Amino acid sequence: MKINVGSFIIGKEEKEAINEILNSGRISEGEKVRKFEEEWAKFIGTKYAIALNSGTSALIAGLTALKHYNKHTIKENTKIITTPLTYIATSNAIVLSGFEPVYVDVDKNTYSITPQTIKAYLEQVDDIENHSLILPVHLMGYPCDMNKINKIAEKHGMITFEDSSQAHGSIYDNKKTGTFSLLSSYSFYIAHNIQAGELGAVTTDDYEIIRLIKKIKANGRACDCMVCTRSTTGCPKIKSYTGNDDFDPRFTHEMIGYNFKTMEFPAALGSTQLKKADQIIKKRQENVKYLNEGLDRFSDLLKLPEYNKNISYLAYPLTINNPDKISRKTLRQKLEERGIETRPLFGCIPTQQPAYKHLKSQYENKLPNAEYLGKNAFYIGCHQYLTQTDLDYIISTFKEVLK
Ligand SMILES: Cc1ncc(COP(=O)(O)O)c(C=O)c1O
Repeated sequence: MKINVGSFIIGKEEKEAINEILNSGRISEGEKVRKFEEEWAKFIGTKYAIALNSGTSALIAGLTALKHYNKHTIKENTKIITTPLTYIATSNAIVLSGFEPVYVDVDKNTYSITPQTIKAYLEQVDDIENHSLILPVHLMGYPCDMNKINKIAEKHGMITFEDSSQAHGSIYDNKKTGTFSLLSSYSFYIAHNIQAGELGAVTTDDYEIIRLIKKIKANGRACDCMVCTRSTTGCPKIKSYTGNDDFDPRFTHEMIGYNFKTMEFPAALGSTQLKKADQIIKKRQENVKYLNEGLDRFSDLLKLPEYNKNISYLAYPLTINNPDKISRKTLRQKLEERGIETRPLFGCIPTQQPAYKHLKSQYENKLPNAEYLGKNAFYIGCHQYLTQTDLDYIISTFKEVLK
């Protein structure tokens, strides 16, 4: 028996989508990417989406765009309030974009930062004006309390940027996560609810953000329209150019950027998954409910994930209640030996991740929930491909190892 954290079954539809691209002879960013962008914006409920080659690139490009965003520029070297408990890309993107991440504690039930922990942090700092942004992550699909977080941001002249990589289609206040901020990023890495191998996106209602990211993701080139005609004769930018030289926007660079462009293949796979989004989300919710019912008898040893129909579950997170009774290491080992794949809940970045060891003394004992979850929480799969036999096997395996 093998129960993976995530799986991706390449079916007929996926193969046809890939073959269509191969037959077209055009594999670099083109109409499949544009189509996915339109579909993703529609699914989330924003005016625009722009695809990039990963969720990490989406974060970096989004943060870089804000440095050039006329309506609310955020200055380099300012502080970004974020979560210590996430996949490390969120923090890495902040640092790589020239900002300083500052961490506030998370809630033990939702794994995410809260209005209370943000407020408590802001009350004891003496440089609020150096804080430019709040970047919450909807971890494991659990939405952060965005209305209250936005109020705090507004009060202090900050903006918000959601990392919605793990919450494709989660609902908060009747809208999808990713619609509560100026911009939001997503990862479609394998095992995420909508998956495409390697792919990311940013959504926003502001075309200025899209225009900036369009440049940033292509080495700062002058192209910034949504639909490239790929012919110099049809290019609106050239048509409106008033100079006398042979201006070519593809090779004129207006800012310093990256190559975060993507390919047609992941975008086409993303589109095939998106067609099944409702079923994927529903099946994952049903699996979480079923596992919760089956594992309820162990709730003295393990904190089970809160079930809620508004959550688009990335996985099935579990927290060890009393590490003296059973440690995460022992439990993970026993599950893995029996074919159930596990992952630690990322670790508390400033105190438990070696790459951030320079922050260890500053944060040690200041983020008790994140430190606890970082050491004692883990997750297993709850994905759409799990069968009834798989779910029953998970429950019987827990019974066997926890007896
Ligand atoms: C919360 C979060 N942010 C960012 C990323 C980075 O995305 P990617 O792996 O596509 O670069 C991930 C990836 O899983 C993630 O979970």
